[in-house]
Amino acid sequence: MSFDIYVLTFIMLVNPKQMIINAQAGGYAIGSFNTSDLEITKAIIKAAQKLKAPVIVETSEKAISYAGLEELASIIREQAKKVKIPLAMHLDHGKSLEVVGKCLGAGYTSVMFDGSHLSFEENQIFTRQAVEMAHQKKATCEGELGSIIKAGTDLVNPKSFTDPATVSEFVRNTGVDFLAVSIGSQHGIGENEELDIDLLKKINSKTKIPLVLHGASGVPDGDIKKAIENGICKINIDTDIRHTFSNTIRRISNTKNLDDPRDIMVKVMAEIQKVVEEKIKLFGSEGKANV
Ligand code: G3H
Ligand code: ZN
Repeated sequence: MSFDIYVLTFIMLVNPKQMIINAQAGGYAIGSFNTSDLEITKAIIKAAQKLKAPVIVETSEKAISYAGLEELASIIREQAKKVKIPLAMHLDHGKSLEVVGKCLGAGYTSVMFDGSHLSFEENQIFTRQAVEMAHQKKATCEGELGSIIKAGTDLVNPKSFTDPATVSEFVRNTGVDFLAVSIGSQHGIGENEELDIDLLKKINSKTKIPLVLHGASGVPDGDIKKAIENGICKINIDTDIRHTFSNTIRRISNTKNLDDPRDIMVKVMAEIQKVVEEKIKLFGSEGKANV
């Protein structure tokens, strides 16, 4: 591959810093949607393109083990080439520097180092290293402070919420570009995912960097809007997409003469696209691709 072709291959994916700073200034949030295959990726990107919304397509470590890193990266990259919106490729919840390095090597334009399972000191040390690795590749790095629990498996524990008193130190010592905060949302659909907006206000008063809401499937729309008003600029959605995928298959599985997987997947993609469009509208990023 010649150098020129190599550069062109990557030019369609952007570092998400500018789109998130624009969102912060404009009072809206960028949707960051999880994918693990061709169909979900196509549906996300089609929705964003239709609504002219900047978008982040993200992959978890589980998605990477399922589909393969190079395979996923090339699916996202190839789809990105076909559209004219700012589109970033992001590692979601990277738990080791090894996976961070591999994703940056595969052309990811952004990574998350999730040190929420570590002590505060260790989280700072490893996140700092991930930030350096990302910045060397002109990519961004998101950190996590506090811990976003998994619905149904953990008890809602305010101790896992982000402590505002630690925010300035963490941001200063790590140099993270964006910070994921724990304010009441849960990964998956929890029983009560009301957000602690007062806590978010306190966190937001401690730092100027854009804040990230994880576990947003299951958070009431009104709380999402209040969160955006108070510093949330990137919102992660995974479960709503996966549930839409499987519910659609369940719903159409007995349809007569529907036995070609391609016909099934066209219906699945259309339903996922609808969900992504609804989220983009809720987050206020519709029409912001040219900002
Ligand atoms: O990192 C991914 C997100 O936090 C997704 O959360 O599955 O509740 O939408 P969710
Ligand atoms: Zn998350």
